[in-house]
Amino acid sequence: MTLSKKPYKGTRDFFPEEKRIRDYMFSKMKETAQLFAYESYDGPLLEEVELYKAKSGEELINDQIYSFNDRGERFVAIRPEMTPTVARMVAQVHREVSKPIRWFSIPNLYRYERPQKGRLREHWQFNVDVFGAPKILGELEIIQLGIKLMQSFGANSEHFEILINDRAIVDNVFKDLLNCSEDECYKLYKLVDRSKKLDKEKFEKQIDETSLTEEAKEIFKEYLKLNSIDLLNTFIQKHSIPKDSIELIGLYERLQELNLSEYVVFDPTIVRGLDYYTGIVFEIFDKNPENRRAICGGGSYANILKIFNEPSLPGVGFGLGDVTLKDFLITHNLLPDFTTPTVDLILTTQDEDGIKPLLSLAHSLRSEKISVFTQLEPLKIKKVFSLAEKKGAKFAAILGSQEIENGLIQIKNLSTKDQKEFKIDNIEDIKGYLA
Ligand code: HAM
Repeated sequence: MTLSKKPYKGTRDFFPEEKRIRDYMFSKMKETAQLFAYESYDGPLLEEVELYKAKSGEELINDQIYSFNDRGERFVAIRPEMTPTVARMVAQVHREVSKPIRWFSIPNLYRYERPQKGRLREHWQFNVDVFGAPKILGELEIIQLGIKLMQSFGANSEHFEILINDRAIVDNVFKDLLNCSEDECYKLYKLVDRSKKLDKEKFEKQIDETSLTEEAKEIFKEYLKLNSIDLLNTFIQKHSIPKDSIELIGLYERLQELNLSEYVVFDPTIVRGLDYYTGIVFEIFDKNPENRRAICGGGSYANILKIFNEPSLPGVGFGLGDVTLKDFLITHNLLPDFTTPTVDLILTTQDEDGIKPLLSLAHSLRSEKISVFTQLEPLKIKKVFSLAEKKGAKFAAILGSQEIENGLIQIKNLSTKDQKEFKIDNIEDIKGYLA
């Protein structure tokens, strides 16, 4: 049998060009997290399946998790998401560390999904979470951080929006207005969560098939039509929903104060598939009709620490995937060109005798933090410049036989075409020219 050279279905090999794109996205993620003073953490790739059974929801457990029995008969999963891991880690230390706890990581996650645009079996996910922040302020900070990250790529409110909801509203509507039992509420949550994937008719049909009374179905449809905070406010008043229980209203006011409300749109169908969310829930959505999908999903979860028999410590966070982010950046022409690598200097020689001074010069320049690509075999002059271009060099240096004899080197600035000769041991001057 011939082995396939392709990676396992739904995973990717990152050849250097792809890896440069990923590194670029990760560097923006790290910079943004650091701007908000979030600390980097990491956890294991494997966790016990029980950890996800507690709060992640049936879709993840039944359809998407990669699981197996290890040699010691432990039922183990490859992490499909990071939130249970971060909660488990916070549960170990929350008594000793000052609040709020602000952490970030960029784990790779595995989900057994049908590979398609925006969905793979392995993806990397920027996770930011804050634990123990005062109500609304944690949510506000997390949303601000999400916006800052998107802006760091050059995106603005023409490119993306944050679709937001509050599980308290959904609970109020489902339990009090529609009079649903726990079981019915759960089914409605799942139906609403799938609504963006269903066409309008199919969705309406599924609503008609629920066990809701005719009157309840009407209220449900009225709720689903709300598409702004103003309309939500009117709905809340009309149905006497206690306004104080709805954190989204206060959060929206804070966002207005920071001039960020232009990014945020109320969306009654955002409920989030994961079971641990208890309050604000949101998704960053691409506004381009060709790429209408979530780049990021998150929300607040008050009770996750309880699964470890710890007191509640409210958490808020989001996960933003590398696959969806890259699609977004390409869609809006916001991805810089990463076809070539970058290096300060390409060092070449025309002669075997040049290898020794070339290695010694490269050694000295690297000590001065100048990056150097060395061509380890003699190279004809006419090939130097095309190689320099491929390697993304800013300067090219050629050691000809004459130069070697005289201890000199020619260095060319490839953008200005300016060329200068230096004594090969005059590192200070060479460094100055390359700076
Ligand atoms: P999630 O909505 O399952 O949330 O995933 C968040 C983001 O990860 C999605 O919006 C998408 O960008 C990306 N993503 C998820 N699955 C895939 C996939 N199969 N292929 C490519 N990208 C994918 C969570 O995972 C929560 N744990 C996020 C969170 C952190 N909530 C609070 N803190």
